[in-house]
Amino acid sequence: MYHAIISGTGSALGAQKVTNEDLSHKLDTSDAWIQERTGIQSRYLAQEGQTTASLAYDAACKALEDAAVAATDVDLIVVATATPDMHFPSVATQVQGMLDIKKCTALDVSAACSGFLYALDTAFNKIQLGQAKKALVIGAEVLSRIVNWEDRATAVLFADGAGAVLLEATEETQGVIGVDIYSDGSFGDLLKTVGGPGSSGQQGLIEMQGREVFKQAVSKLAEVVDFSLEKYNFKAEDIDFLVPHQANKRIIDATAKKLKLDASKVVLTVSEHANTSAASVPLALDTANKEGKFKKGDLLLLEAFGAGFTWGSSLIRWQK
Ligand code: COA
Repeated sequence: MYHAIISGTGSALGAQKVTNEDLSHKLDTSDAWIQERTGIQSRYLAQEGQTTASLAYDAACKALEDAAVAATDVDLIVVATATPDMHFPSVATQVQGMLDIKKCTALDVSAACSGFLYALDTAFNKIQLGQAKKALVIGAEVLSRIVNWEDRATAVLFADGAGAVLLEATEETQGVIGVDIYSDGSFGDLLKTVGGPGSSGQQGLIEMQGREVFKQAVSKLAEVVDFSLEKYNFKAEDIDFLVPHQANKRIIDATAKKLKLDASKVVLTVSEHANTSAASVPLALDTANKEGKFKKGDLLLLEAFGAGFTWGSSLIRWQK
């Protein structure tokens, strides 16, 4: 069995920064309400010419550069997205084409806001089995194109961006300790798109029962972080950084409080990026990496919760 380390990270954002104040001119909302309920101050929205695939490609290029690895050495691309630009080809194969990689395995996974953990799980398993050596694991979304801009309850939450990591096989060093992912389809109606996609030709728009989603997110995340620490034989005090899905600061605070983690150990980007779904965890990872937050040997706990419901976590020893 091989191990897998993160050797590079990268990210890309929608080209237009939109503040809460900007939104309050179009919707019956306010900066105070959004900040108090979510911790969000701004978000980046894709502009004409930016697509899920182009954001994924930009993030992938930066991750390759950070790892000093040539695109032609990549043998696996896994893209997590809930907003592919088209039904097919997949975003992963579009990225492969843009990177001019003539032959590799490329696939998309769909698990909404937990998507990056699902993609990481897929790549980690293939690396462990010796089926891949260098994998681009990407989360990319253009959620602004499926937001109902007349619904203030959801329009203020979601945004666009992409994050990528290069996951490399190694025989000696352990980076990724484990990835655990779950789903429960009985909660599907609480957060879904309505009115497409498919043969209707319409784009489905996000509909959410926020309070119920909030409650479930807090309880499922508490459960999964406990389970993960126990499974891999760690204690909460062993964690150097929590890298959570960036949906709502209050959800993140609840997980940090449960783990008794000081705020300095929590990677928080929701205030600037808002909820970028599958892109949020790798975007947060890249932001912290670029800020020089992590040092070699740090223990990171990644977690996410999203539509489905889906949820998951991963423990990673930082080896860069
Ligand atoms: N601006 C101002 N007021 C708003 C508003 C907005 N953008 N959105 C909703 N409101 C109003 C509601 O209409 C409601 O008014 P009322 O009391 O007069 O009926 C009031 O604010 C409270 O609404 P509620 O939905 O109960 O607020 P909340 O405290 O649950 O916060 C969320 C709403 C969406 C921020 C919160 O439920 C949440 O974060 N849920 C989880 C979302 C999430 O993480 N989704 C993605 C999962 S990956």
